[in-house]
Amino acid sequence: MISPVHQVLRDGTRDRHETLDEGLALTSGDLDRDGYLNYLRALLGWLEPLERRLWQLDWPDSLQAHARAGKSDWIRADLAAAGDAAPVAHCPDAPRVNAADAYALGVAYVVEGSQLGGRFLAKQLADISPALPLRYLRGYGENLGPMWKNFLHYLDSEAGAQGHEARALQGARDAFDSLTVWLHSRQALRT
Ligand code: HEM
Repeated sequence: MISPVHQVLRDGTRDRHETLDEGLALTSGDLDRDGYLNYLRALLGWLEPLERRLWQLDWPDSLQAHARAGKSDWIRADLAAAGDAAPVAHCPDAPRVNAADAYALGVAYVVEGSQLGGRFLAKQLADISPALPLRYLRGYGENLGPMWKNFLHYLDSEAGAQGHEARALQGARDAFDSLTVWLHSRQALRT
C-alpha cells in the first residue's frame, strides 16, 4: 500500500512527470545515437553536481547512500563507451540540498524514481539500436525493487511520520522543474 507521503509526492508531481515522459527526445520513435548521447550529457549536467551534494549529507546507513551515489558514474561510463569525451556543462539551477531533511528527500525521490522507467527504456532502446551503451538506464538492475522500497520506507519514516510532506513536495517539484528547464535548454526535451 502506498504511504500518505508517497501519495503526496506522486500526485503533486504527476503532471511534471508526464511532461518528461512525453517530451523527452529519448522516447521519440526516431531516436538516433546522437540524440541519445545528447540526452545522457544533458542529464549528467543536472545530476552530477546535485548527486555529489545529495549523498554526502548525513544520512543513516540504512538508506544506503553509497549505493545510490554512482548514477553519474554510470552515465560517464556510457559516454566513454560511446567514445564521447566532449565536456559536459553543469546546470547552475538544480535544487540546493544542504541537510539530510525532508526537502532533500523530495529531491532524492526524483533522482531515485527516475530509475523506475529506465528498465523499460533500456529494453526499448536495445531493440532499436543494440550498440547503444545502457549502463545508466539499466541502473540498479535486479536490485531496483528493493532499492526503491528501501527509499520509500525511509521517506515515510522521516518526512511522513514528522509531518513534513509539504517540504518534501517542494523538493520534488524544484527537482522536476529545474531538470525540465535544463533538459529543454539542452535540446533534450521536445515540449
Ligand atoms: C529524467 C527523467 C525522469 C524522471 C526524473 C522520472 C521520475 C520518476 C519518478 C519520481 C517516478 C516515481 C513515481 C511514483 O511515485 O510511483 C517515476 C516512475 C515511473 N517512470 Fe519516470 N521519470 C523520468 C523519465 C521517464 C521516462 C522517459 C519514462 C518512460 C517512458 C518513465 C516511465 C516511468 C514509469 C513507467 C514509472 C512507474 C514505474 C513503476 O511504478 O514501477 N519515466 N519516474
